[in-house]
Amino acid sequence: MAKGKVAIDGEVVDGDEARVSVFDRGFLYGDSVFEVYRTYAGTPFAEAEHLERLARSAARLMIPMPVSPETLASEVRATLDAAGEGEWYVRVIVTRGTGPLTYDPTTASAPLRVIIAAPVSVPPAERYERGIAVALLEASRPTDDVRASGAKASNYLANLLAVHEAQQKGAQEALMLGRNGQILEGASSNLFIVKDGEVRTPEPQPGILVGITRATVIAAAADEGLEVVEGEVRPGDLYGADEAFLTSSIREVMPVVSAEGRTIGAGVPGPVTKRLHEGYLRAVALATGAGV
Ligand SMILES: Cc1ncc(COP(=O)(O)O)c(C=O)c1O
Repeated sequence: MAKGKVAIDGEVVDGDEARVSVFDRGFLYGDSVFEVYRTYAGTPFAEAEHLERLARSAARLMIPMPVSPETLASEVRATLDAAGEGEWYVRVIVTRGTGPLTYDPTTASAPLRVIIAAPVSVPPAERYERGIAVALLEASRPTDDVRASGAKASNYLANLLAVHEAQQKGAQEALMLGRNGQILEGASSNLFIVKDGEVRTPEPQPGILVGITRATVIAAAADEGLEVVEGEVRPGDLYGADEAFLTSSIREVMPVVSAEGRTIGAGVPGPVTKRLHEGYLRAVALATGAGV
């Protein structure tokens, strides 16, 4: 099976040959930022938006971008070309680089950039047909704090422990609760609910990574004549919703049919969710030329 390719500071190597220093602060402290997106018909979708967000994340963490987004995009292209035929998961990482073993971030001056192209692994069709279950959890993540809010920082420990806890409850995704008990987002996704024809998603605030899939779905909804309201979503709103779904670059639009063991709506993926997933795929097809 193809393992994919990796570019480190612009040099493309086989995935299993790729190495970074143990003194890299990304490895030592999670002191890095990243983006994840995928190809359709070999073309990355919404790459410019992802690379812009990467630059914003780096600025938030005071990591100087080592190269321009355009250079990064051409390095991604070179990595994908080396990887060859197929659909690829693309991960772009910028770490603060290596330095002495001290917390002081100013001691590292040469950020490292890594591009990973790995075979994309998408959820099984059955999850889209039947929908998934979610659990609601309290968790404190570095990006909930004002200092790093809005940055896609690589330290995902709280998110992955939340997913583990959700899985132990029989759910496939964890929804994070904010300090006021409001729902923020999934561990690696954004949430939407549908009630009496109104589509609603939590408004941007600390603790929410404003997803690129979320933005594409809001635009697709507008094309369908559906307005999306950005506002507070509380657990009771989710339990009482007619439909709910999650969005992320890899999962696209994933129906949610139960939360904390309570059935949402009819307990099956709803018509608005399906329409918006189709609308999302139309946007992908338009942008990439893929027949999705
Ligand atoms: C915490 C978090 N929120 C939301 C998202 C969805 O973002 P996007 O739609 O840009 O993939 C992700 C994606 O990984 C995420 O990690």
